Formats: sequence, structure tokens, C-alpha cells
Amino acid sequence: MRHVLLAFLITLFMLASASAQTQGLDALVSHALKFAQQQARQTVSEINDSTKFARSTTPEGKWSTSASRDWISGFFPGVLWYMYEYTKDPFFRQSAERWTAGMANEQFDRGTHDLGFKIFCSYGTGYRLAPSDDYMKVIQQTAQTLILRFNPTVGCIKSWDNRKWAYPVIVDNMMNLELLFWAAEHGGSPKLREIAIKHAETTMKNHFRSDGGSYHVLSYDTTNGSVLVRNTHQGYADESVWARGQAWAIYGFTMTYRFTKDPRFLETARRAADYFIERLPSDNIPYWDFQAPEIPNEPRDVSAAAICASALFELSSYVKEPEKKAAYLDRAKNILRSLCTAPYLAEGTNSHAVLNHAVGSKPAKSQVDVSIIYADYYFIEAMLRYVQLKK
Ligand code: GLY
Repeated sequence: MRHVLLAFLITLFMLASASAQTQGLDALVSHALKFAQQQARQTVSEINDSTKFARSTTPEGKWSTSASRDWISGFFPGVLWYMYEYTKDPFFRQSAERWTAGMANEQFDRGTHDLGFKIFCSYGTGYRLAPSDDYMKVIQQTAQTLILRFNPTVGCIKSWDNRKWAYPVIVDNMMNLELLFWAAEHGGSPKLREIAIKHAETTMKNHFRSDGGSYHVLSYDTTNGSVLVRNTHQGYADESVWARGQAWAIYGFTMTYRFTKDPRFLETARRAADYFIERLPSDNIPYWDFQAPEIPNEPRDVSAAAICASALFELSSYVKEPEKKAAYLDRAKNILRSLCTAPYLAEGTNSHAVLNHAVGSKPAKSQVDVSIIYADYYFIEAMLRYVQLKK
């Protein structure tokens, strides 16, 4: 009897402390979302020109901006749409519409694979929250433009033009498939979906090591589809695993499973997630590359953490085994917990962004240990996914 009572008390204690932890995260997320609103308002008045898009911060904490042709342009309108979704404040909707309109020309850009990042984060999120024929036309046109970069012999959409590789495909490119899957499901040609599936299959086959770590850049022979080289561009070495690339893989294959329900893609997402999770430091924020040579004296990358957290919320919803499901969910929450607090939340610093400590490209010595707009975008997305889950 005493044992039963003891077991009961232990269970009660565990439940109480789990609930206290969750309540703690609720408060942290609510605070970080308030802070994000304040920073987004400040960014709107700081930039105040909808042909300029927040990219990364200067040492003074101000935003450096890019024109809409830069791959990052969709994230600032995306942040504004997410703020509108959370607050229903017309200021955020009007601002989101302004910066979304500033990207209209991108639907015709045949020179980049980043059309999914650009147009789905801006017009795509805008369409979900405020559907319009105009937005639908832009999304459908963009999908048609993107598939012009598909080569059936290779089985992939080409990532970059005019670089040292013959036919480069980067793991990041998985993210652009969401635009194609969505457009196909909303009146577009079935070809969009077929191309997205083929690209995902080719990436699944060629972009991963046996341990689930991903390569960044592959180049293909367009005469027979064979892999010519496996390299990196933003990682430490060809054989290392660049943290954001791995996060793109987790997110990209989870999203591909959402549209296809093909278990091979779920398995690929899980293996990529396990690689990432098993190598996280104790505060759950990865170094910019999992094999960076000077760890622990290397910069962290909050963008990789935020992308991974957002993806894990979704991935956990597809996993059947209770233990694994809980492991992914707990990890997503623990990453959020770190991002919501110092030193990662930019509160009290001079940054006009939401998060600090992101890395754009360490090898290029570009945007190292600064705030970057896509870190904010996926952080806010992850927090909204958490809020949704609680409902
Ligand atoms: N897609 C470019 C990057 O993640 O830096």
C-alpha cells in the first residue's frame, strides 16, 4: 500500500512539474511574441520603403536591406503577415500588403530557385490569411516560372546559375517545393506536384550520408543525371554538416510528407531530425556547423534552431510511436525556450530584430553572429505553431 501511495505521489509530482514547465514556456512565448510585435513595428518605420527588405543587422543594430531580387525578400512581409495572424491588427495587414506588393516582379524571375522562399512566405501566407485572385495569380505564375529550372535527366530543379558547378542543387532547395505542391493542390497543373516529388526523391537518394547528415551542394552531369561532386558552400567542409542546411532538410522533408503522405519522406525527415537533435549542445542552439573546428568557441546559429523547432512541431504530429512523438515535441519546446531567453532573444540589445546570434555564411565572412530576418521568420512561425498546438 505504501508503495502504491509513493508511486501516486511521484506521478503527481511529475505531472505538476511538467505543467509548471509548460506554463513557463507559455509565458515566455507570449512575451517573445509581444516583443516581436514591437520590433516589427519599429522595422516598418525604420525601413518605410516597400522596395527594401530587411536582411541582417549592422553593428549598430539597424537593418541592412536588400532589393526584392535577393532570396531573403519574402521573409519580412512574411513576418508582418504572421504578426497580423497573431494580433489581427490592421496595421500589420496593411504593412504586410505593402511589402508583399513590393515583390510582384519576382514571379517572373527565371534566374533563381528561391522563388518558394520569396513568394510562398509573402504571397502564400497572405493568401492563407486574406485570399484574393491577385495573390493566387502571382503564386500560380511563380510555380510555372520555377519549374522552368527542372531538368528531367537530373530529376532536380537547378539551384544556381553562373557558379563553379555544372548543375548545382543545394539541400535548401527542398523548401521551394512547398510552392509547387500548394499550387498543384489549388488549381495548378499536376506537373507541379510531379516535379516536386521527383526533386524530393532525387535529393533523398543523393544528398544524405548513411548517418542522416546532409551535403550542402551537389552538382550533376546533365547528360546522364549522375552526381559529379558533393561540396559545401556555406558549411565548414565538404564532409561536414552545415547546421542550417540540415534544418532545411528536416523542414523540407516534413513538408513533403505533409503533401504526399509517402512514408519514405517521413523517414528521411526523421533521420535528418535525429542527426540534428543528437548533436545539439546543452542549450539546444546549434553551432553554425556540426563539425566546426573550434567548438565550443564557434558562433551559434539561431536560424538553424528556429527552422528546426518549427519543423519538429509539425514532424511530431506525424509520428505514431508515443515516445518518439514526445521526444520531437519536447525538443521543439526546449529549442523555443532557449530562443525566448537571453542571450538569443534580442531584448535589451541594440538590435531591431527579434533574435540575435545568427550566421549567414561563415566561410564568406558574411553576416556572422548578427540578427537575420529568416531567423525571426521561422522563430515566429514556430511560436505560432506552439500557440496553435495549445489550442
Ligand atoms: N538558402 C540560403 C541560406 O540558407 O543561407
